[in-house]
Amino acid sequence: NSLMIERRKIYNFLNQQKSLFGNELFSLSTNQVNPDLLSHVQNSLDGLNQYSKSISLCQECSLGAKRNNFVFGVGDSNAELMLIGEAPRKEEDMEGEPFVGRAGKLLNKILAAINKNRLEGVYLANILKCRPPDNRDPLSLEVDKCEPYLLKQIEMIKPKLIMALGKVSAKILLKKEIPIDKMRSTVYDYYGTPLRVTYHPDTLLRNPDFKKFAWEDFQWARDYLAR
Ligand code: URA
Repeated sequence: NSLMIERRKIYNFLNQQKSLFGNELFSLSTNQVNPDLLSHVQNSLDGLNQYSKSISLCQECSLGAKRNNFVFGVGDSNAELMLIGEAPRKEEDMEGEPFVGRAGKLLNKILAAINKNRLEGVYLANILKCRPPDNRDPLSLEVDKCEPYLLKQIEMIKPKLIMALGKVSAKILLKKEIPIDKMRSTVYDYYGTPLRVTYHPDTLLRNPDFKKFAWEDFQWARDYLAR
């Protein structure tokens, strides 16, 4: 646990340095922290950024031609918890960040309730990195091209737990279609990482009654990660 706290401190420190000064000053003030850990966190941050750049001009499917932004993902490069939605929508396409619209605001509140936020301990991504027209569900050809990017992100971040947000995301990731209320109680395996399914925040906005179930799921996730 103290290792996690130190990792978190280093991560925040590096992010702060980066936003203030850019990459050059990254090696300053490193005398108080374990240098191996520092280079691990720095490498994973840089690694994700580099990876994002390397795929951000992707034209593997037709969505590439229409996007405003490639929406790679956002969050802690050493996140324990990774949340996966289906695809960017209008706001996300405009801003280049997942879950920035209404659904994202609700997600922020849910994360705050388990003492997390999108920069600390959490990474947010979608299966598709580009917006499908009219927010339609991802097509299998698009998933075939884009899912390897997600797998690479997971390989780099190494989350302890993935939560699939909503039935579309769950169906694509697990390659099976089961009603979401049945899926919620199972811990699945996604290429070696435990995966739980919960409601999409859009669903919670439409059906506030379901919030209690999502709350149970996130509390479970919090306790699972604390084990
Ligand atoms: N819905 C998603 O699945 N992903 C987003 O980024 C926003 C809304």
